[in-house]
Amino acid sequence: EHKQYFSHELLDWYEINKRDLPWRRHRDPYYIWVSEIMLQQTRVDTVIPYFHRFIERFPTIQSLADAPEDDVLKCWEGLGYYSRARNLQAAARQVTEQYGGVMPSGKDEVSGLKGIGPYTSGAIRSIAFNIPAAAVDGNVMRVLSRYFLIEEDIMKVKTRTKMEDLVLTLVPDGRASDFTQALMELGALICTPKSPKCLVCPVMEHCSARLEGKEESLPIKTKA
Ligand code: ADE
Repeated sequence: EHKQYFSHELLDWYEINKRDLPWRRHRDPYYIWVSEIMLQQTRVDTVIPYFHRFIERFPTIQSLADAPEDDVLKCWEGLGYYSRARNLQAAARQVTEQYGGVMPSGKDEVSGLKGIGPYTSGAIRSIAFNIPAAAVDGNVMRVLSRYFLIEEDIMKVKTRTKMEDLVLTLVPDGRASDFTQALMELGALICTPKSPKCLVCPVMEHCSARLEGKEESLPIKTKA
């Protein structure tokens, strides 16, 4: 099944090829959280200047909780999907009221925050706290469906759950933070939707889709 090969080659590749992104310079859970919310519907290049401005204007969870909502929306202006900003501030207020302003790391606590679903919860807990947790988004499903030849509809909850379970079997001990980011990075830079760069992929050798010539027809996605 080549799981160990996948995880270790992927981590080695990531160490050398990871992009220097502002939220990768710290492991502050607040920075990871803000970046993940911004990245949900927006490209990395667009997010970078917004991330810098947002963190400068609201450097802590407490400062975000204390700000007038209009200031938060003003800082978000141009990014779109403004409910993300409203939810982020509502959740910052939850963290100040329920957890003394300190981001919690428990699954139920993190998932209970406004605007944080399974993906964002997994991203924060793994990237910021190095807890083995799955952050499965479209990019990660594309990588996994290809490497492991998962020919099931990625729009189905069952498929996502299966991939979350699979990720947990792949995370090397103590490497949850890098592993989550490495999976995302492979999906962003190499295992792209169209014309994946298989020739420079660190795990091409055992990629099932590649071996069957199916890399461009995966993942399988039905209803919009
Ligand atoms: N897309 C979603 N999360 C990301 C992250 N942490 N780094 C780069 N791209 C991402």
